[in-house]
Amino acid sequence: MSPFLLTRTLPEDATDTALRTDVQRGLTGTPKTLPPKWFYDARGSELFEQITELPEYYPTRAEREILITRAAEIAAATGARTLVELGSGSSEKTRHLLDALTGLDTYVPVDVSDSALTQAGQALVAERPGLRVHALIADFTAGLSLPDTPGPRLIAFLGGTIGNLLPAERAAFHAAVRSLLSPGDALLLGTDLVKDEKVLVRAYDDAAGVTAAFNKNVLAVVNRELGADFDPGAFDHVALWDSGNEWIEMRLRSRTAQTVKIHALDLAVDFAEDEELRTEISAKFRQEGVRAELAAAGLDLTHWWTDREGRFALSLSVAR
Ligand code: SAH
Ligand code: AVI
Repeated sequence: MSPFLLTRTLPEDATDTALRTDVQRGLTGTPKTLPPKWFYDARGSELFEQITELPEYYPTRAEREILITRAAEIAAATGARTLVELGSGSSEKTRHLLDALTGLDTYVPVDVSDSALTQAGQALVAERPGLRVHALIADFTAGLSLPDTPGPRLIAFLGGTIGNLLPAERAAFHAAVRSLLSPGDALLLGTDLVKDEKVLVRAYDDAAGVTAAFNKNVLAVVNRELGADFDPGAFDHVALWDSGNEWIEMRLRSRTAQTVKIHALDLAVDFAEDEELRTEISAKFRQEGVRAELAAAGLDLTHWWTDREGRFALSLSVAR
């Protein structure tokens, strides 16, 4: 079996410190917010995988279609020997890229979810003798440093996860990605596209209620990690389209006036009836916006591929 290395780039307690800071800041601000990275404990990662199978949730299927069709072109254009994947989750779609990248030496999946990384990494090394897998438990928004592996390097950021960052966070993210690349190295970026509002809202408010459970899971994470007493049943799942910002917003709406205690922070948080807590934005893109954001960071867009229905795009850009 080929080597599987799992590295935690942050001390164990850094996650705890980051969660405390985010919860303190997010629940005492107006409006109340929590960053979406806290959805992904083992249960949240499992719920996300269920979302990818839902009839309403098209992005995963659309991106898979593009990867299947374009993997050979991506391999020819990049000649990658190291593939780094940010927010790799189950690495399920990535298999199409791994098949096509014939000269690949090392795959570096990076994720905050150690359960997803461990499962995916162990399955991959069992399937692919000869491929080195160096998994990193790390936050891709917090000063990532990568192992020293052979170039050319291709960084993949799939699934449309870039849309879960606010515009200023996206600019910082693109600059950080550029700093991890040498001239001629590439970024493969998945972006969900602006489309009919009803299709978008349905994708984030499915009939089976899986997205609602995923959304409420962040409350279970705060309960477990910080000794809070959120009652997930006292909040409703909300998904709405913000046409000005061109993003979907997920929120949790308090059914009643209530006070939630967060023991580890010695904090009591009051919610008014119908008050909403923003848990995620999921921005939708247009080609010119993506090109401009990447160019501002020194990344030149060379390829733009969509699925047959034009719902989702994969773009390849090259570091200047
Ligand atoms: N790329 C996969 C998974 C997308 S789900 C796909 O396309 O299906 C988003 C993934 O990003 C989750 O696995 C989550 O744990 C991870 N993630 C979210 N925020 C992160 C962050 N700040 N740093 C590292 N990983 C993050
Ligand atoms: C991971 N990310 C791209 C997903 C999205 O579509 O924004 C997370 C998600 N939220 C609700 N459903 C899926």
